[in-house]
Amino acid sequence: MAMEGHYRSHPNGAPLILFGIPNSIERRVDYAIEIPGGSSLILKHDARAPLACLDTVPEEAQPPVGTVFWSFRVMVGFGLAMLGIGLWSLVARWRKSLYTSRWLIRGAIAMGPSGFIAVLAGWITTEAGRQLWTVFGLLRTHDSVSPLDAPAVAVSLLAIVVVYFAVFGAGIWYLLRLMSKPPEVHERALDGTVTRAAGITPAAAIVSGATK
Ligand code: HEM
Repeated sequence: MAMEGHYRSHPNGAPLILFGIPNSIERRVDYAIEIPGGSSLILKHDARAPLACLDTVPEEAQPPVGTVFWSFRVMVGFGLAMLGIGLWSLVARWRKSLYTSRWLIRGAIAMGPSGFIAVLAGWITTEAGRQLWTVFGLLRTHDSVSPLDAPAVAVSLLAIVVVYFAVFGAGIWYLLRLMSKPPEVHERALDGTVTRAAGITPAAAIVSGATK
């Protein structure tokens, strides 16, 4: 209900709100762009099916709607952008401009952190959305808080930070070292076969006919 921004129940089919600004004071989504009957169709397989919404949930048990609404859209937005760049790459490959299209390459670089951002947004959606429950109907968030004292939690957190810095630091240093060496035109794998990118795509140097 919070992900979809449905404050009020819809007895005759709920719309799918694509965008808008959740207004938790007035209990509505301002400037909503919506597809009539879309939510009911997705959730109940019938565009006219009634949908019970946040007004059926006690106010103290409702999640922060704005957080859940926006984090869900960030996640889905990045998911669609990933799909989009995949399709764009396919078209570019078909048009033989996969390695030369400046905008595609720029876009691919810009999309680098997208998986990370989408995972965080998905996680925020789930964690903020399921309040007040850690496990819905079984375990409340305040019952699942660690019984350990703060200093004990701080020490284990510090240990994790130190270990992760060492492990990821070494990993990043190794990756940067690998990346600092550019690929060579006549590069061959150890078994003598030609270099291939993405499994089946001949590497850039071979496509451009620079070998032999
Ligand atoms: C493309 C459209 C996408 C849709 C429609 C979608 C939908 C959903 C839904 C319905 C949830 C569950 C929320 C809940 O009820 O708890 C969820 C959770 C999540 N999503 Fe997405 N998602 C999409 C893309 C992505 C992408 C691209 C990523 C990451 C690369 C991602 C990562 C996550 C994560 C990490 C969770 C939380 C899982 C958990 O902790 O239980 N999602 N997503």
